[in-house]
Amino acid sequence: MPFRVETVCRAFPGRRIVHFERVGSTMIEAARLAEEGFPPGTVVVADEQTSGQGRHGHFWHSELDSGLYVSVLLQVPVGAVLTLALGLATAEAITRETDLRCDLRWPNDILIGEKKVAGILVQLLGSAAIAGIGINVNHPSFPIPLAAEATSLRMETGLRHERENLLIALLRSIDSFCSMLVQGGAPPILRMFSHASSYAKSKRVSVRMGDRLITGITDGLDDAGFLRLRKDDGLIELILAGGVRPL
Ligand code: BTN
Repeated sequence: MPFRVETVCRAFPGRRIVHFERVGSTMIEAARLAEEGFPPGTVVVADEQTSGQGRHGHFWHSELDSGLYVSVLLQVPVGAVLTLALGLATAEAITRETDLRCDLRWPNDILIGEKKVAGILVQLLGSAAIAGIGINVNHPSFPIPLAAEATSLRMETGLRHERENLLIALLRSIDSFCSMLVQGGAPPILRMFSHASSYAKSKRVSVRMGDRLITGITDGLDDAGFLRLRKDDGLIELILAGGVRPL
């Protein structure tokens, strides 16, 4: 089903919403548009990405017409908390559109059960940011290396979901969480993330940081949004980045 960008434009009059059928990565197009002077709030959405980017140089599976692949230019305070705020916004939009309950795995994974349904990638652009959000919407299945870890909204509900409605809900949620961040700073976002995420506290996990693998129990977030881990030797380590997995 082709993406009806007019439906999204009608919901956000005056906002620059740029739609591509096929693109390398919406992150690259968003950076290009920012350099051309497109304003904060500009949205880039694609039906397919040939070089979708995930965190830590991973590839984001971006097959045609199945997912929501979107980047948004933002003028907000940049830091770890922004990724958490975008995760909350994405989970809220998914729940609004599907009634599915999401979990959040620090820092950027949106899960249904134990499987990943969406991911967040934030890139800095001077004092501003590009928020990249990928949501698995209508994928009927995933190729073998991803199948154990990934799910889609369709696989969870048995229904096809309209990407346009999901994007409208997502942009509303992003606007609302970004206003919260600008007005209230980190504390309300940290509170909400800690409440919404089963990973924030008392979860036994492993964390891969480069070639180091550490294990322990999560012990809440610090004031900047980093994850505290009580390691098996009893010491607390602050996790600044890394892949967190349940044990
Ligand atoms: C992750 O979980 O590793 C982050 C995935 C982010 C994927 C989105 S899809 C839209 C935007 N364009 C990209 O190339 N990546 C982000």
